[in-house]
Amino acid sequence: MKHPNRIEQEFHQVLSSLQDFLLSQKEQGVLGLPLQHQRTTVNKDQQLENIRSELGECTRCKLHQHRRHIVFGTGNPAAQLVFVGEGPGGEEDVQGKPFVGRAGQLLTKIINSIDLTREEVYIANIIKCRPPNNRNPEPDEIKACEPFLIKQLDAIKPKIICALGTFAAQTLLETDERISRLRGKFIPYRNSRLIATFHPAFLLRNPQRKRDVWEDMKMIRKEYVRSERLC
Ligand code: URA
Repeated sequence: MKHPNRIEQEFHQVLSSLQDFLLSQKEQGVLGLPLQHQRTTVNKDQQLENIRSELGECTRCKLHQHRRHIVFGTGNPAAQLVFVGEGPGGEEDVQGKPFVGRAGQLLTKIINSIDLTREEVYIANIIKCRPPNNRNPEPDEIKACEPFLIKQLDAIKPKIICALGTFAAQTLLETDERISRLRGKFIPYRNSRLIATFHPAFLLRNPQRKRDVWEDMKMIRKEYVRSERLC
């Protein structure tokens, strides 16, 4: 029989140490190795918790005076798709969760229409406290709050961001361009691809625009499936 050469000997040594290591792990009760995506989720989860802690009981802008709850964001910390709205309304302020009112119910249907659930995506807003009488957020409020959204997006690292409505799209993209011109296409944004579409509250008032939103959602679905394949 041929004697093993040096490389073969080294290979056998490595294999035997690996076997010893795995046996010792088994004896200590380790039954499997964590999958890559599990590790990432835990890490992203922790990062989001850290950002939430940093935000604290925020008093960085005047909106804290009348809010009931900070609406931080909900969903999957490892989401490939993040929806960004404007800011909490009355129901969101009460529950401390984004998009739980009438517009939120429509958003849930929109998400389901592309074979996803709210639990699979992440949902947040440009600002985290309800403006009085649901007025538009003011520049100082956005300046105080948007950095936290950016940190959330940087932690989640979604492939796709869907900006819901004029306000979210214009704020994220730092433009005055109309939503009708911004929607319907992917625009590079940080490390993601951003697509803007009409806000669900606008759709409740203008149901004839649902067709446009459906076109945007089909683009999102296609890109989502493509990016899943690349993972
Ligand atoms: N509208 C938004 O923009 N965000 C919400 O969370 C609810 C309604």
